[in-house]
Amino acid sequence: MTLAHLLHLQGIESVVLERQTREYVETRVRAGVLEQGTVDILCQSGVGDRLKREGLQHQGVELRFDGKGHRIDFQDLVGKSITVYAQQEVLKDLIVVRLSYQAPLFFSAEAVRIENYHTAPKIHYQHDGQSHELICDFIAGCDGFHGICQSAVPKHQLQIHERHYPFAWLGILAHVPPASQELIYTYHERGFSLLSMRSPEISRLYLQCAPDEDIQNWPEDRIWDELRTRMATHEGFELKNGPIFQKGITPMRSFVAAPMQFGKLFLLGDAAHIVPPTGAKGLNLAVADVRVLTRGLVEFYQYGNSETLRQYTERCLRRVWKCQRFSWWMTSMLHRFPNEDRFSHHIHLAELDYVTGSRAASTTLAENYVGLPFDTPGLF
Ligand code: PHB
Repeated sequence: MTLAHLLHLQGIESVVLERQTREYVETRVRAGVLEQGTVDILCQSGVGDRLKREGLQHQGVELRFDGKGHRIDFQDLVGKSITVYAQQEVLKDLIVVRLSYQAPLFFSAEAVRIENYHTAPKIHYQHDGQSHELICDFIAGCDGFHGICQSAVPKHQLQIHERHYPFAWLGILAHVPPASQELIYTYHERGFSLLSMRSPEISRLYLQCAPDEDIQNWPEDRIWDELRTRMATHEGFELKNGPIFQKGITPMRSFVAAPMQFGKLFLLGDAAHIVPPTGAKGLNLAVADVRVLTRGLVEFYQYGNSETLRQYTERCLRRVWKCQRFSWWMTSMLHRFPNEDRFSHHIHLAELDYVTGSRAASTTLAENYVGLPFDTPGLF
């Protein structure tokens, strides 16, 4: 939706095929943290009004361990901030604007097959109980890890780099004001936990759990007790229970598929790379791919120049790998791995003590968290 919007502003037509209903995409609970660069591009492209009003701007995060909190002050360290604004809210804003200029956007439209993506791309899709064909200049595969675009590429042409983690996150949304103004990432011997939020009335909280955890084993009281145990401080941190209205398990995986371009087919976001959620990078990485592809398509249509399109994989992956590294590092530092001994525990604590105690190390975390620079200067 972001790509389609940016292309529209440049006079480039596109058709958006969305497999789900509008209601589904507007309510599905997903990411919540926007880097400053993501906020900037949404605002500069005219879809940031509600984001500016309702988004919660944060100047830092807290790392908590050994019963004590340590603030990483983004504003002081790198002069930037992040914004908590849910992915489905970004989508609502983009849908409204796209409908306002009456550009093609089909819900419940399932793309079933793509063909000829090296020469004259064609998408076969189902909509309103009928089969349709869409002939286009380019295909932007924004259809996720399980989508048809990545799987249309012959396996031997894709290089897969991946890492599975021996844990998952149990996440909840609860009707209770967040116990902190800013996010709190906690390392504890019993496992990681995270306090986040969606609004001044709604808390979003996560607990590290087993990868095959059965959510039925987690009644509300057990969730709150475990969160309280892991987030406890010597100063008596208080976490209030509230009605939980959504809960689910998030798997953890690092994944990169290369290349990201095959002729006139481009892979974006989760179709090409997945990060574990600890660095809050997923949505932001997708928007970074959108920048590069938009720039490439604008140069192609306006000046007949294919250079940026040709460099798509290289330009995207250079930054993707840095974000992969950061997400992997945050995940490794903050979680308990199976069979960790006392030595490993002290290594976790020493690393956190160093990261929070050294201005150089805190700056490293801050500049990655708020978002690394892009190599597409200007709006795109
Ligand atoms: C969230 O609010 O859902 C959230 C925040 C930070 C993360 C991951 C998820 O690192």
